[in-house]
Amino acid sequence: MTTTKSNQNNNIVTLSDISKSFYLKGGLEVPVLHHINLTVSEGEMIAILGQSGSGKSTLMNIIGGLDIPTKGDYYFAEKHVNTMTSDELAELRSRDISFIFQSFHLLPGKTVYQNVKLPLLYQRSFTGDHHEYVTHALNRAALEEKHWHKRPNQLSGGQRQRAAIARALVARPRLLLADEPTGNLDSQTGDNIIESLQYLNDKYNTTIIIVTHDESLTDVVHRVITIKDGYTHQI
Ligand SMILES: Nc1ncnc2c1ncn2[C@@H]1O[C@H](COP(=O)(O)OP(=O)(O)O)[C@@H](O)[C@H]1O
Ligand SMILES: [Mg+2]
Repeated sequence: MTTTKSNQNNNIVTLSDISKSFYLKGGLEVPVLHHINLTVSEGEMIAILGQSGSGKSTLMNIIGGLDIPTKGDYYFAEKHVNTMTSDELAELRSRDISFIFQSFHLLPGKTVYQNVKLPLLYQRSFTGDHHEYVTHALNRAALEEKHWHKRPNQLSGGQRQRAAIARALVARPRLLLADEPTGNLDSQTGDNIIESLQYLNDKYNTTIIIVTHDESLTDVVHRVITIKDGYTHQI
């Protein structure tokens, strides 16, 4: 059963006093996130900046519905994510939220085109034209057509990240989560990737949350949150 939040606003993500611990064998608690409060409005592009080990990926996994908090409430738009059934969570992940990872996570045995098409195949309710959506996404991610039918290992890092962006966008998510999207790229290629994300945010109003340890990204986003040892600060 999904409960709804009464206030009407345009917040797409509301984290209210979220804490997260992992438990090791034998029950030892590893606290990772502490009392995180964060709201993100629809159409915002924000960066969460923190060093390695500060809890960025753990936080992204919670926002992406891949992991659950130990304490606190998470609302996606008005929906209370904590109490979603596994079917509702799967639907949220396949329809509303997409991920881009540092290591791209493309399937090596499939072409770029096939990789980009996959999210549409996973979405039971999708009724659009696959070819139209895939080519549109590849164009939006600015990957040249000559690369579309290559496999990921035939592409440069920047081209792979463009393919990963196309895959993340193809189902037209409301929220795009990018976990160190420029981490494996040289700075010029990284800048190009960030420009594509900015373009998507401007043109399609896609909400984007980027986590990074790269301080140069702070100039291009609307708002920066810092995270240190699992505590967030607004700057
Ligand atoms: N599944 C897990 N079990 C135990 N500890 C974990 C687990 N996942 C992450 N951690 C710990 O949580 C801390 C934050 O990790 P992470 O969120 O990956 O940080 P970041 O993405 O900022 O580098 C680290 O100390 C890490 O070792
Ligand atoms: Mg990480």
